[in-house]
Amino acid sequence: MRNIVIFWSLQLFFGFFLVNCSSSRNNNTKEELITGNKTPGLINDAGVLLVLQNCNSCHSTQLITQNRLTKVGWKSTIRWMQSTQNLWDLGEDEAPILTYLSKNYAPSATGRRQNLVTDDWYTLE
Ligand code: HEC
Repeated sequence: MRNIVIFWSLQLFFGFFLVNCSSSRNNNTKEELITGNKTPGLINDAGVLLVLQNCNSCHSTQLITQNRLTKVGWKSTIRWMQSTQNLWDLGEDEAPILTYLSKNYAPSATGRRQNLVTDDWYTLE
C-alpha cells in the first residue's frame, strides 16, 4: 500500500514537471522568433520583439490583438498599466512600441458604423 502511494506521488511529481517543461518550451523565445519567424498572434513588423519582451509577461498577447487603438489610446493604456498594474517604465523602448501598436493595431473604422450589406430589402407598408 505504502509503495503504491509513493509510486503515484512520484508519477504526479514527474508528470507535473514534464508538463511545466513542455509549456515553457512553447513560449516564444526571442531565438524561436528570429529563426522560426513565429509570433504568438502578433503581426511581424519592426518593434514586435520589444512588444513581446515588454507586453507578454503579465497577460497574453491576445489582450493586445483584440484591441484597436490610436497612438494616444495605446499610450494611455500603457500609462494606466503603469499607474495601476505595476508596468515598468518602458524608457526608450516606448516610442518604437507605440509606433508598432498604432501602426498594426489601429482602429479599423472611425465614426459611424459601416453600411449594412444586404440584397434582401423589404418594402415598408
Ligand atoms: C506588469 C504587468 C503588465 C505588463 C508588463 C503589461 N500589462 Fe497590459 N495589463 C496588465 C493588467 C493587469 C491588465 C488588466 C487585465 C485584465 O483586465 O484582465 C492589462 C490590460 C491590458 C490591456 C487591456 C486594457 C483594457 O482597457 O481592457 C491592453 C490592451 C494591454 N494590457 C496592453 C499591454 C501592452 C501593449 C503592454 C506592453 C507595453 C502591456 N500590456 C504590458 C498588466 C500588464
